Amino acid sequence: MTGHGKSKINIRTQIPGKKGKEIIEMSRKYMATTTQTLPVVGSHGNGVYVTDVDDNTYLDFTSGISVTNLGYNDRYVVSEVEKQLHKIWHFAGTDFYAEIQAKAAKALVSITPGRFDKKVFFTNSGTESVEAAIKIAKAYSKRHQFIGFIGSFHGRTHGSLSFTASKALQHKDFFPSMPGVEHVPYPDPYRNPFGIDGYEQPTELVNRVIDFIDDYLFKTYLPPEEVAGILVEPVLGEGGYIVPPKNFFTELHKLAGSHGIPLMLDEVQTGFGRTGRFFASEYFNVEPEMILLAKSIASGIPMGAVVLRSEMDFKEEGMHSNTFGGNLLASAACVATIEQLKKIGAIKNSKNMGTHAMKRLKEFKDRYEVVGDVRGLGLMLAIDFVRDRKTKRFNEKFRYKVIERAFRKGLLLLSTGRSAIRLIPPLTITESEIDEGLDILEDSIRKSE
Ligand SMILES: Cc1ncc(COP(=O)(O)O)c(C=O)c1O
Repeated sequence: MTGHGKSKINIRTQIPGKKGKEIIEMSRKYMATTTQTLPVVGSHGNGVYVTDVDDNTYLDFTSGISVTNLGYNDRYVVSEVEKQLHKIWHFAGTDFYAEIQAKAAKALVSITPGRFDKKVFFTNSGTESVEAAIKIAKAYSKRHQFIGFIGSFHGRTHGSLSFTASKALQHKDFFPSMPGVEHVPYPDPYRNPFGIDGYEQPTELVNRVIDFIDDYLFKTYLPPEEVAGILVEPVLGEGGYIVPPKNFFTELHKLAGSHGIPLMLDEVQTGFGRTGRFFASEYFNVEPEMILLAKSIASGIPMGAVVLRSEMDFKEEGMHSNTFGGNLLASAACVATIEQLKKIGAIKNSKNMGTHAMKRLKEFKDRYEVVGDVRGLGLMLAIDFVRDRKTKRFNEKFRYKVIERAFRKGLLLLSTGRSAIRLIPPLTITESEIDEGLDILEDSIRKSE
Protein backbone atom coordinates (compact mmCIF):
# COMPACT_ATOMS: atom_id res chain seq x y z
CA MET A 1 0.00 0.00 0.00
CA THR A 2 2.67 2.48 0.97
CA GLY A 3 5.06 1.80 -1.89
CA HIS A 4 8.05 2.21 0.41
CA GLY A 5 10.20 -0.69 -0.65
CA LYS A 6 12.53 -0.63 2.34
CA SER A 7 9.78 -0.42 4.96
CA LYS A 8 10.76 -1.95 8.28
CA ILE A 9 7.16 -2.09 9.50
CA ASN A 10 6.31 -5.70 10.14
CA ILE A 11 3.04 -6.75 11.78
CA ARG A 12 3.18 -10.51 12.08
CA THR A 13 0.74 -11.38 14.88
CA GLN A 14 -2.60 -10.25 16.17
CA ILE A 15 -1.97 -7.30 18.44
CA PRO A 16 -1.39 -7.81 21.26
CA GLY A 17 0.32 -11.13 20.54
CA LYS A 18 0.57 -13.98 23.03
CA LYS A 19 3.43 -12.56 25.08
CA GLY A 20 2.05 -9.03 24.84
CA LYS A 21 -1.30 -10.18 26.23
CA GLU A 22 0.33 -11.77 29.28
CA ILE A 23 2.33 -8.63 30.04
CA ILE A 24 -0.69 -6.37 29.62
CA GLU A 25 -2.64 -8.58 32.05
CA MET A 26 0.20 -8.48 34.57
CA SER A 27 0.52 -4.68 34.17
CA ARG A 28 -3.22 -4.18 34.70
CA LYS A 29 -3.14 -6.36 37.79
CA TYR A 30 -0.10 -4.86 39.49
CA MET A 31 0.29 -1.32 38.16
CA ALA A 32 -1.97 1.53 39.19
CA THR A 33 -4.11 3.01 36.43
CA THR A 34 -2.53 5.72 34.29
CA THR A 35 -3.22 6.62 30.68
CA GLN A 36 -2.38 3.63 28.42
CA THR A 37 -4.15 3.87 25.06
CA LEU A 38 -2.67 1.32 22.63
CA PRO A 39 -1.86 -2.33 23.48
CA VAL A 40 1.79 -2.26 22.40
CA VAL A 41 4.34 -3.88 24.71
CA GLY A 42 7.71 -2.46 23.71
CA SER A 43 10.74 -4.71 23.62
CA HIS A 44 13.44 -2.73 21.79
CA GLY A 45 13.85 0.20 19.48
CA ASN A 46 16.10 1.44 16.73
CA GLY A 47 15.87 4.92 15.20
CA VAL A 48 12.23 5.60 14.30
CA TYR A 49 11.13 1.98 14.68
CA VAL A 50 10.08 0.09 17.78
CA THR A 51 9.56 -3.66 18.13
CA ASP A 52 7.17 -5.32 20.53
CA VAL A 53 7.61 -8.48 22.57
CA ASP A 54 5.91 -10.56 19.85
CA ASP A 55 8.33 -9.26 17.25
CA ASN A 56 6.00 -6.81 15.51
CA THR A 57 7.80 -3.68 14.32
CA TYR A 58 6.08 -0.27 14.19
CA LEU A 59 6.97 3.10 12.74
CA ASP A 60 6.85 5.44 15.71
CA PHE A 61 5.38 8.92 15.26
CA THR A 62 5.18 9.45 19.04
CA SER A 63 8.83 9.52 20.25
CA GLY A 64 7.68 8.50 23.75
CA ILE A 65 5.65 11.76 23.79
CA SER A 66 8.41 13.95 22.41
CA VAL A 67 11.18 12.39 24.49
CA THR A 68 13.33 10.27 22.17
CA ASN A 69 14.10 13.14 19.81
CA LEU A 70 17.26 11.38 18.57
CA GLY A 71 15.31 8.18 17.92
CA TYR A 72 15.65 5.00 19.91
CA ASN A 73 19.11 3.92 21.06
CA ASP A 74 21.25 6.67 19.63
CA ARG A 75 24.69 5.04 19.77
CA TYR A 76 26.55 8.15 20.98
CA VAL A 77 24.15 8.75 23.88
CA VAL A 78 24.30 5.05 24.78
CA SER A 79 28.12 5.09 24.88
CA GLU A 80 28.33 8.30 26.96
CA VAL A 81 25.79 6.96 29.47
CA GLU A 82 27.64 3.64 29.60
CA LYS A 83 30.93 5.41 30.36
CA GLN A 84 29.30 7.28 33.24
CA LEU A 85 27.59 4.11 34.46
CA HIS A 86 30.93 2.40 34.93
CA LYS A 87 32.41 5.38 36.82
CA ILE A 88 29.63 6.38 39.24
CA TRP A 89 25.91 6.83 38.65
CA HIS A 90 24.65 8.52 41.79
CA PHE A 91 26.41 11.07 43.96
CA ALA A 92 23.87 13.43 45.46
CA GLY A 93 24.08 16.84 43.89
CA THR A 94 22.34 18.14 47.00
CA ASP A 95 25.33 17.62 49.25
CA PHE A 96 28.33 17.14 46.99
CA TYR A 97 29.53 18.09 43.52
CA ALA A 98 30.05 16.14 40.29
CA GLU A 99 31.71 17.33 37.11
CA ILE A 100 29.13 15.90 34.70
CA GLN A 101 26.32 17.81 36.50
CA ALA A 102 28.17 21.10 36.20
CA LYS A 103 28.87 20.31 32.53
CA ALA A 104 25.18 19.63 31.88
CA ALA A 105 24.21 22.91 33.58
CA LYS A 106 26.82 24.84 31.57
CA ALA A 107 25.62 23.24 28.34
CA LEU A 108 21.97 24.14 29.09
CA VAL A 109 22.93 27.72 29.96
CA SER A 110 24.86 28.04 26.72
CA ILE A 111 22.07 26.80 24.41
CA THR A 112 19.03 28.48 25.99
CA PRO A 113 17.88 31.92 24.84
CA GLY A 114 18.53 34.85 27.18
CA ARG A 115 21.49 37.23 26.89
CA PHE A 116 21.94 37.47 30.65
CA ASP A 117 23.53 35.33 33.37
CA LYS A 118 21.63 32.09 33.90
CA LYS A 119 21.70 29.11 36.24
CA VAL A 120 20.07 25.68 36.23
CA PHE A 121 17.98 23.93 38.86
CA PHE A 122 17.78 20.20 38.05
CA THR A 123 14.65 18.11 38.56
CA ASN A 124 13.47 14.68 37.38
CA SER A 125 10.37 15.48 35.34
CA GLY A 126 8.28 18.23 33.80
CA THR A 127 5.91 18.57 36.71
CA GLU A 128 8.83 18.94 39.11
CA SER A 129 10.30 21.67 36.92
CA VAL A 130 7.00 23.52 37.25
CA GLU A 131 6.99 23.05 41.04
CA ALA A 132 10.52 24.42 41.25
CA ALA A 133 9.67 27.36 38.99
CA ILE A 134 6.68 28.26 41.19
CA LYS A 135 8.95 28.39 44.24
CA ILE A 136 11.64 30.37 42.42
CA ALA A 137 9.05 32.93 41.28
CA LYS A 138 7.48 33.25 44.74
CA ALA A 139 10.77 33.54 46.59
CA TYR A 140 12.16 36.06 44.10
CA SER A 141 9.13 38.31 43.79
CA LYS A 142 7.67 37.88 47.28
CA ARG A 143 4.30 37.66 45.46
CA HIS A 144 1.87 34.74 45.48
CA GLN A 145 -0.51 34.90 42.53
CA PHE A 146 0.05 33.45 39.04
CA ILE A 147 -1.46 33.61 35.58
CA GLY A 148 -1.95 30.46 33.48
CA PHE A 149 -3.75 29.72 30.22
CA ILE A 150 -6.87 27.74 29.33
CA GLY A 151 -5.86 24.72 27.25
CA SER A 152 -2.45 24.37 28.84
CA PHE A 153 -0.81 21.32 30.37
CA HIS A 154 1.95 21.67 32.92
CA GLY A 155 1.78 18.43 34.88
CA ARG A 156 -0.26 16.63 37.50
CA THR A 157 1.22 17.35 40.94
CA HIS A 158 -0.76 19.83 42.97
CA GLY A 159 1.15 22.98 42.05
CA SER A 160 1.47 22.23 38.34
CA LEU A 161 -2.08 20.82 38.26
CA SER A 162 -3.39 24.19 39.38
CA PHE A 163 -2.17 25.56 36.02
CA THR A 164 -3.16 22.54 33.90
CA ALA A 165 -6.37 23.25 32.00
CA SER A 166 -6.55 20.95 29.00
CA LYS A 167 -8.91 18.22 30.30
CA ALA A 168 -11.41 18.49 33.16
CA LEU A 169 -10.76 14.82 34.01
CA GLN A 170 -7.29 15.74 35.21
CA HIS A 171 -8.93 17.71 38.05
CA LYS A 172 -11.75 15.31 38.86
CA ASP A 173 -11.69 14.35 42.59
CA PHE A 174 -8.50 16.37 43.16
CA PHE A 175 -9.68 19.84 44.16
CA PRO A 176 -8.46 21.96 45.79
CA SER A 177 -5.11 22.27 44.07
CA MET A 178 -2.70 25.14 44.79
CA PRO A 179 -4.64 28.39 45.19
CA GLY A 180 -3.69 31.58 43.39
CA VAL A 181 -3.78 30.73 39.66
CA GLU A 182 -6.01 32.77 37.32
CA HIS A 183 -6.59 31.36 33.84
CA VAL A 184 -6.90 33.47 30.71
CA PRO A 185 -7.64 32.48 27.08
CA TYR A 186 -4.73 31.21 24.95
CA PRO A 187 -4.45 32.86 21.52
CA ASP A 188 -5.65 29.84 19.56
CA PRO A 189 -5.94 31.01 15.95
CA TYR A 190 -8.42 28.26 15.04
CA ARG A 191 -10.88 28.22 17.95
CA ASN A 192 -10.97 31.06 20.46
CA PRO A 193 -13.66 32.66 22.63
CA PHE A 194 -13.31 35.96 20.73
CA GLY A 195 -14.61 34.44 17.48
CA ILE A 196 -11.58 35.77 15.58
CA ASP A 197 -9.96 33.92 12.69
CA GLY A 198 -6.45 34.15 14.07
CA TYR A 199 -4.86 32.93 10.85
CA GLU A 200 -6.37 35.90 9.01
CA GLN A 201 -6.08 38.39 11.87
CA PRO A 202 -3.18 37.34 14.11
CA THR A 203 -2.51 40.82 15.51
CA GLU A 204 -6.14 41.30 16.46
CA LEU A 205 -6.13 37.96 18.30
CA VAL A 206 -2.96 38.83 20.21
CA ASN A 207 -4.37 42.25 21.14
CA ARG A 208 -7.54 40.66 22.50
CA VAL A 209 -5.63 38.29 24.76
CA ILE A 210 -3.25 41.00 25.96
CA ASP A 211 -6.22 43.33 26.59
CA PHE A 212 -7.99 40.54 28.45
CA ILE A 213 -5.08 40.39 30.91
CA ASP A 214 -4.28 44.08 31.04
CA ASP A 215 -7.70 45.69 30.78
CA TYR A 216 -9.91 43.04 32.32
CA LEU A 217 -7.95 40.85 34.73
CA PHE A 218 -5.59 43.52 36.07
CA LYS A 219 -8.26 46.21 36.35
CA THR A 220 -11.09 44.14 37.81
CA TYR A 221 -9.74 41.60 40.25
CA LEU A 222 -6.03 40.81 40.06
CA PRO A 223 -3.66 43.68 40.87
CA PRO A 224 -0.56 43.07 38.73
CA GLU A 225 1.73 43.87 41.65
CA GLU A 226 0.44 40.67 43.30
CA VAL A 227 1.52 38.46 40.36
CA ALA A 228 4.63 36.32 40.87
CA GLY A 229 4.76 34.88 37.36
CA ILE A 230 3.04 34.06 34.09
CA LEU A 231 3.38 30.39 33.13
CA VAL A 232 2.77 29.53 29.49
CA GLU A 233 3.60 26.98 26.80
CA PRO A 234 5.05 28.42 23.58
CA VAL A 235 2.96 25.86 21.68
CA LEU A 236 0.11 24.14 23.54
CA GLY A 237 1.16 20.49 23.89
CA GLU A 238 -1.56 18.34 25.41
CA GLY A 239 -4.00 21.13 24.56
CA GLY A 240 -3.89 20.36 20.82
CA TYR A 241 -0.56 21.56 19.39
CA ILE A 242 -1.85 25.10 19.09
CA VAL A 243 0.65 27.58 17.63
CA PRO A 244 -0.11 31.17 18.67
CA PRO A 245 0.59 34.16 16.41
CA LYS A 246 4.27 34.95 16.14
CA ASN A 247 4.26 38.25 18.08
CA PHE A 248 2.31 36.90 21.05
CA PHE A 249 5.22 36.25 23.37
CA THR A 250 6.99 39.53 22.71
CA GLU A 251 3.73 41.35 23.57
CA LEU A 252 3.13 39.18 26.64
CA HIS A 253 6.71 39.67 27.79
CA LYS A 254 6.36 43.44 27.36
CA LEU A 255 3.20 43.49 29.45
CA ALA A 256 4.69 41.23 32.13
CA GLY A 257 7.91 43.26 32.23
CA SER A 258 6.00 46.51 32.71
CA HIS A 259 4.68 45.06 36.00
CA GLY A 260 7.88 43.30 37.06
CA ILE A 261 6.32 39.87 36.43
CA PRO A 262 8.68 37.08 35.31
CA LEU A 263 7.71 35.12 32.19
CA MET A 264 8.00 31.36 32.78
CA LEU A 265 8.07 29.53 29.47
CA ASP A 266 7.25 25.83 29.68
CA GLU A 267 9.37 24.24 26.94
CA VAL A 268 9.00 20.73 28.35
CA GLN A 269 7.44 19.48 25.12
CA THR A 270 8.71 22.07 22.62
CA GLY A 271 12.36 21.98 23.70
CA PHE A 272 15.42 20.39 22.18
CA GLY A 273 14.67 20.85 18.50
CA ARG A 274 11.09 19.67 18.36
CA THR A 275 9.83 22.87 16.70
CA GLY A 276 12.71 23.16 14.22
CA ARG A 277 14.68 25.46 16.60
CA PHE A 278 16.56 24.34 19.71
CA PHE A 279 13.80 26.14 21.66
CA ALA A 280 10.46 27.48 20.51
CA SER A 281 11.37 30.76 22.28
CA GLU A 282 13.83 31.36 19.43
CA TYR A 283 11.04 31.13 16.85
CA PHE A 284 8.96 33.58 18.87
CA ASN A 285 11.93 35.84 19.53
CA VAL A 286 11.50 35.96 23.29
CA GLU A 287 14.00 35.68 26.15
CA PRO A 288 11.96 34.59 29.17
CA GLU A 289 13.14 34.88 32.76
CA MET A 290 12.71 31.12 33.18
CA ILE A 291 12.67 28.20 30.73
CA LEU A 292 11.23 24.95 32.03
CA LEU A 293 12.54 21.70 30.57
CA ALA A 294 12.14 17.91 30.79
CA LYS A 295 11.14 15.12 28.35
CA SER A 296 13.81 15.04 25.60
CA ILE A 297 16.70 16.74 27.43
CA ALA A 298 18.30 13.43 28.44
CA SER A 299 16.85 11.34 25.60
CA GLY A 300 14.55 9.42 27.93
CA ILE A 301 16.58 9.11 31.11
CA PRO A 302 14.38 11.02 33.56
CA MET A 303 15.56 14.61 33.87
CA GLY A 304 14.01 18.04 34.15
CA ALA A 305 15.50 21.49 34.58
CA VAL A 306 14.63 25.11 35.16
CA VAL A 307 16.97 27.55 33.45
CA LEU A 308 16.58 30.82 35.34
CA ARG A 309 18.02 34.30 35.39
CA SER A 310 20.87 34.07 37.90
CA GLU A 311 19.45 36.94 39.99
CA MET A 312 16.34 34.79 40.64
CA ASP A 313 18.35 32.02 42.31
CA PHE A 314 17.28 30.95 45.83
CA LYS A 315 18.87 33.27 48.35
CA GLU A 316 19.69 30.60 50.95
CA GLU A 317 20.97 27.03 50.73
CA GLY A 318 18.31 24.49 51.66
CA MET A 319 15.30 26.50 50.45
CA HIS A 320 14.65 23.93 47.72
CA SER A 321 16.34 20.68 46.70
CA ASN A 322 15.77 17.03 45.74
CA THR A 323 17.60 13.70 45.84
CA PHE A 324 17.86 12.79 42.18
CA GLY A 325 17.96 16.14 40.33
CA GLY A 326 20.92 16.11 37.95
CA ASN A 327 21.43 12.36 38.36
CA LEU A 328 24.79 11.52 36.83
CA LEU A 329 23.49 9.17 34.12
CA ALA A 330 20.87 11.76 33.19
CA SER A 331 23.50 14.50 33.15
CA ALA A 332 25.74 12.41 30.87
CA ALA A 333 22.75 11.74 28.60
CA CYS A 334 21.86 15.44 28.55
CA VAL A 335 25.36 16.55 27.52
CA ALA A 336 25.56 13.79 24.89
CA THR A 337 22.08 14.63 23.55
CA ILE A 338 23.02 18.28 23.05
CA GLU A 339 26.29 17.32 21.34
CA GLN A 340 24.61 14.77 19.10
CA LEU A 341 21.69 17.02 18.10
CA LYS A 342 24.27 19.58 16.96
CA LYS A 343 26.66 17.11 15.34
CA ILE A 344 24.13 15.34 13.13
CA GLY A 345 22.08 18.43 12.24
CA ALA A 346 18.90 16.98 13.75
CA ILE A 347 17.32 20.36 14.40
CA LYS A 348 17.72 21.48 10.80
CA ASN A 349 16.25 18.14 9.79
CA SER A 350 13.29 18.77 12.12
CA LYS A 351 12.64 22.04 10.31
CA ASN A 352 13.03 20.57 6.82
CA MET A 353 11.02 17.41 7.48
CA GLY A 354 8.39 19.51 9.23
CA THR A 355 8.03 21.67 6.13
CA HIS A 356 7.71 18.60 3.96
CA ALA A 357 5.14 16.95 6.25
CA MET A 358 3.11 20.14 6.58
CA LYS A 359 2.85 20.44 2.79
CA ARG A 360 1.31 16.98 2.68
CA LEU A 361 -0.97 17.65 5.65
CA LYS A 362 -2.34 20.70 3.85
CA GLU A 363 -3.15 18.45 0.91
CA PHE A 364 -5.09 16.17 3.29
CA LYS A 365 -7.06 19.21 4.39
CA ASP A 366 -7.89 19.99 0.76
CA ARG A 367 -8.96 16.40 0.12
CA TYR A 368 -10.94 15.46 3.23
CA GLU A 369 -13.81 17.53 4.60
CA VAL A 370 -13.34 15.95 8.03
CA VAL A 371 -9.91 17.61 8.41
CA GLY A 372 -10.65 20.99 9.98
CA ASP A 373 -7.16 22.26 10.65
CA VAL A 374 -3.52 21.28 10.24
CA ARG A 375 -0.90 23.11 12.24
CA GLY A 376 2.48 22.95 13.92
CA LEU A 377 6.11 24.00 13.92
CA GLY A 378 9.00 21.77 12.85
CA LEU A 379 8.18 18.18 13.75
CA MET A 380 5.51 19.16 16.27
CA LEU A 381 2.51 18.74 13.99
CA ALA A 382 -1.20 18.06 14.37
CA ILE A 383 -4.22 17.26 12.27
CA ASP A 384 -7.57 18.23 13.78
CA PHE A 385 -10.84 16.48 12.86
CA VAL A 386 -14.20 18.25 12.87
CA ARG A 387 -17.83 17.22 12.42
CA ASP A 388 -18.45 20.31 10.38
CA ARG A 389 -15.95 22.81 9.06
CA LYS A 390 -18.18 25.80 9.77
CA THR A 391 -18.90 25.09 13.43
CA LYS A 392 -15.49 23.41 13.96
CA ARG A 393 -17.18 20.96 16.33
CA PHE A 394 -14.69 18.43 17.71
CA ASN A 395 -14.76 14.98 16.10
CA GLU A 396 -13.26 12.85 18.87
CA LYS A 397 -14.67 9.59 17.54
CA PHE A 398 -13.17 9.99 14.09
CA ARG A 399 -9.81 10.85 15.60
CA TYR A 400 -9.73 7.61 17.60
CA LYS A 401 -10.84 5.58 14.58
CA VAL A 402 -7.90 6.93 12.59
CA ILE A 403 -5.41 6.23 15.40
CA GLU A 404 -6.71 2.66 15.73
CA ARG A 405 -6.64 1.99 11.98
CA ALA A 406 -3.13 3.39 11.58
CA PHE A 407 -1.99 1.34 14.54
CA ARG A 408 -3.22 -1.89 12.94
CA LYS A 409 -1.09 -0.98 9.93
CA GLY A 410 1.99 -0.45 12.08
CA LEU A 411 2.03 3.32 12.64
CA LEU A 412 2.03 4.61 16.22
CA LEU A 413 0.14 7.87 16.74
CA LEU A 414 -1.12 9.78 19.78
CA SER A 415 -4.04 12.10 20.31
CA THR A 416 -3.79 15.69 21.48
CA GLY A 417 -6.43 18.21 22.48
CA ARG A 418 -10.06 17.27 21.99
CA SER A 419 -10.02 16.02 18.41
CA ALA A 420 -6.51 16.14 16.98
CA ILE A 421 -3.75 13.64 16.30
CA ARG A 422 -0.19 14.71 16.92
CA LEU A 423 2.71 13.75 14.69
CA ILE A 424 5.99 13.82 16.62
CA PRO A 425 8.48 11.42 15.05
CA PRO A 426 12.14 11.50 16.08
CA LEU A 427 13.96 14.51 14.63
CA THR A 428 16.27 12.14 12.76
CA ILE A 429 13.50 10.84 10.50
CA THR A 430 14.08 10.67 6.74
CA GLU A 431 11.74 11.93 4.03
CA SER A 432 10.79 8.42 2.94
CA GLU A 433 9.99 7.44 6.55
CA ILE A 434 7.81 10.55 6.91
CA ASP A 435 6.07 9.68 3.65
CA GLU A 436 5.53 6.11 4.74
CA GLY A 437 3.82 7.31 7.92
CA LEU A 438 1.76 9.94 6.12
CA ASP A 439 0.63 7.40 3.51
CA ILE A 440 -0.68 5.19 6.33
CA LEU A 441 -2.31 8.20 7.97
CA GLU A 442 -4.03 9.24 4.75
CA ASP A 443 -5.22 5.71 4.05
CA SER A 444 -6.61 5.53 7.60
CA ILE A 445 -8.47 8.82 7.17
CA ARG A 446 -9.92 7.69 3.83
CA LYS A 447 -11.11 4.37 5.24
CA SER A 448 -12.58 5.94 8.39
CA GLU A 449 -14.82 8.37 6.46
C1 LIG B 1 4.35 21.34 28.40
C2 LIG B 1 4.44 20.30 29.48
N1 LIG B 1 4.75 20.67 30.73
C3 LIG B 1 4.84 19.76 31.73
C4 LIG B 1 4.60 18.43 31.50
C5 LIG B 1 4.70 17.46 32.63
O1 LIG B 1 5.81 16.66 32.44
P1 LIG B 1 5.96 15.26 33.23
O2 LIG B 1 4.98 14.31 32.64
O3 LIG B 1 7.39 14.87 32.99
O4 LIG B 1 5.68 15.56 34.66
C6 LIG B 1 4.27 18.00 30.21
C7 LIG B 1 3.98 16.58 29.95
O5 LIG B 1 3.38 16.20 28.98
C8 LIG B 1 4.18 18.96 29.17
O6 LIG B 1 3.86 18.60 27.93
